[in-house]
Amino acid sequence: MVAEGQDQAAALERQNRELQRLLTVARDQLGEMKVKLAEASAPPQSFATFVKWAGEFADIVSSGRRMRVTVLPSLGRELEPGDEVLLNAMMVVVGTAEPERAGQAALVREVIDADRVLVVSRGEDERVVIMIGGDAHSRVSEGDTVIIDPRTGFASEKVDRSGVEALMLEEVPDVDYRAIGGLAPQIERIRDAIELPIRHPELYIEHDLRPPRGLLLYGPPGCGKTLIAKAVAHSLGEAVGADRSYFLSVKGPELLNKYVGETERYIRTIFERARSKASTGAPVVVFFDEMDALFRSRGSGVSSDMETTIVPQLLTELDGVEGLSNVIVIGASNREDMIDPAILRPGRLDVKIEVSRPGPASASDIFSKYLTASVPMAPSELAQHGDDAVGTARALTAVAVDTLFGYPDTPEYVSGALIRNIVDRAKTGAIKSLISGGERGITATHLRDACEQELLEARAVAAGTLGGE
Ligand SMILES: Nc1ncnc2c1ncn2[C@@H]1O[C@H](COP(=O)(O)OP(=O)(O)OP(=O)(O)O)[C@@H](O)[C@H]1O
Ligand SMILES: [Mg+2]
Repeated sequence: MVAEGQDQAAALERQNRELQRLLTVARDQLGEMKVKLAEASAPPQSFATFVKWAGEFADIVSSGRRMRVTVLPSLGRELEPGDEVLLNAMMVVVGTAEPERAGQAALVREVIDADRVLVVSRGEDERVVIMIGGDAHSRVSEGDTVIIDPRTGFASEKVDRSGVEALMLEEVPDVDYRAIGGLAPQIERIRDAIELPIRHPELYIEHDLRPPRGLLLYGPPGCGKTLIAKAVAHSLGEAVGADRSYFLSVKGPELLNKYVGETERYIRTIFERARSKASTGAPVVVFFDEMDALFRSRGSGVSSDMETTIVPQLLTELDGVEGLSNVIVIGASNREDMIDPAILRPGRLDVKIEVSRPGPASASDIFSKYLTASVPMAPSELAQHGDDAVGTARALTAVAVDTLFGYPDTPEYVSGALIRNIVDRAKTGAIKSLISGGERGITATHLRDACEQELLEARAVAAGTLGGE
């Protein structure tokens, strides 16, 4: 009896515990559901940007409105200017949010101080924005693109625009004037026009003489225009004793194709970049290759109407380049007749230099740059000149020039590039002779063959029967 009663009590006890467990589960589930219900029906939180602390309050900008609000004490005082925060319906800062990664792109005009930069974005006036995180001087410079939030006036990050960077090669050219053959008079004129004012600014000021802002190199392909532009940049670096010089090179057609409708903005960017580099004291050459593609005469009807806006943009920039400012603009073109004349007027690219095809004397000078005494020459050739390498190189050069100019149509095709190709081809010939068991070194025959082959190719290119440009 007693045992039975005990069994019953134990069973009841078990039942009781089970009920208790179920109750607890039910209560937990109810709690969870309550939370979910609360979450689901919670009023939306809005995003805002933290601007600064105002005592225990926070100044924020939300949807373009500036407000002073309270901050949930649990958030502490960690907020930094520019942080994204969450506001509840009572306009209390209740949390932080991921920073905004999208925004409007703006171009940096000037870094004002550690946390403020002057920017301009499309179609708008200049404005000052705050660089989130400060340290603006080391993070951005003139010509960079940053993301701004136009409503809050914060700039978040710099965007790398590989496009324009790639268009503007900034390498320091290692070409110097000595590598250029047959253009001594042109080089002298260029040095007078560009290096004199930079070397002796005080004399220009005293004589009230305004130095040219730039020059135009024109002439047929492959005759040394790009080479000269690079040598100018190289030699300017030496002239001002700067550690380095900059060569911002822009190819006209590339700029047009890549940035349809945005070309003006890129021209502005290029000059902004140039000025910012020049402000460090380093000379900057801005080189517009194939300039005719960009700056065709307005109203020539050759391309679309883009030249009606691009030309004035370049004029503005050219006029904005101060004399004696270390920024030199060089344009190169095969079709100078196509370039808008306003660009070539005094005070702009007013030094015009023709880089023409070489005659025999110039060709000989160009050959001497590539066919030097250090090129392996055949013993049979050396023997004819008392084993004197310099004399032999000179004699081989004379052979090459005679061969080259022995054809009546040579003046139509000859160029520095062609001459370089001839020497390269003769060297290839020498290597092949050596491999097939012949004599080591270049011979007159290698050079003659190379001249003939190169001329044949040049004629074929001109006639359009060979690949061609
Ligand atoms: N006067 C020269 N002296 C030495 N090398 C030259 C000369 N002219 C051309 N060359 C050689 O030919 C190459 C092409 O020359 P460059 O690029 O300067 O021609 P360009 O006048 O700019 O032609 P393009 O109108 O096609 O741009 C040079 O890299 C160089 O190797
Ligand atoms: Mg060129």
